[in-house]
Amino acid sequence: MKVARSIEELRSLRPGLAAPVGFVPTMGYLHDGHLSLIRAAKRGCQSVVASIFVNPTQFAPTEDLTSYPRDLDRDLRMLESEGTDLVFAPADAEEIYPVDFSTWVLPEGITARLEGAARPTHFRGVATVVGILFHLIEPQSAFFGQKDAQQALVIARMIRDLHFDVDLHVEPTVREADGLAMSSRNTYLNAAERAAAPVLRRSLDLAESLWTQGERDTEALRTAMRELLAGEPLVFPEYVSIADPRTLDELDTVGTKALVSLAARLGRTRLIDNTVLPPGTPLIEREAECS
Ligand code: PAF
Repeated sequence: MKVARSIEELRSLRPGLAAPVGFVPTMGYLHDGHLSLIRAAKRGCQSVVASIFVNPTQFAPTEDLTSYPRDLDRDLRMLESEGTDLVFAPADAEEIYPVDFSTWVLPEGITARLEGAARPTHFRGVATVVGILFHLIEPQSAFFGQKDAQQALVIARMIRDLHFDVDLHVEPTVREADGLAMSSRNTYLNAAERAAAPVLRRSLDLAESLWTQGERDTEALRTAMRELLAGEPLVFPEYVSIADPRTLDELDTVGTKALVSLAARLGRTRLIDNTVLPPGTPLIEREAECS
């Protein structure tokens, strides 16, 4: 496995990779969710590139940029054991963002809702860094996790609007045994918060099972989810949404496809999770294993 700490090194190593190249962008502190993306990339692509970069521009000044967990040596060992070919881990933020950086990718529309409403500059930072990484790495396919569903929808829109020649793959959320979606931020939870956190998944399970029993009224589904969440006093929900995945407009009735998503605070930790109705429906249809 090769490791590039600068754009210059990346540019010298990238031509040696056999096509098609699959790309997994990460902010490091890897867990099984990230590794499932590497495995998905390896299934279809000839070469796999991962990036490790805690992207400062997607954090608001009040957020956890400085405390975000980091362990490059451990991450590199994990990526090597999965057969990753090349890791791009910029040595510092200036490698990506030159002094006086002033050129942004500014996604609009769906970014006004849900995560974008709570974190107004977040998707500008995500779209800009992913655009830069696509430009530098030139992958044929890119792999994202469904846990960050709105991020995947924003990236899908960016790929379409800016004509990136990249196939987007959105892979299922990987969960702990008790249902909690894997996230690097789970490490912030204390023992009591960790015990309470699986209620997020249980509320999504409830929406799925009510849907399976025939409930299509979204306010009835949201109310049932909120009531379940209210049973955990350490969990403070920020939103419970049942929206059209194309627009993220809230729906009155579940029709052909709905994104059920929620965000909640547990102490200083903010967690998100989601599912798609009908259960088992992919968030974004995948065209090929890797192309
Ligand atoms: O999902 C993440 O870890 C980040 O938002 C990403 C896509 C690596 C961009 O910094």
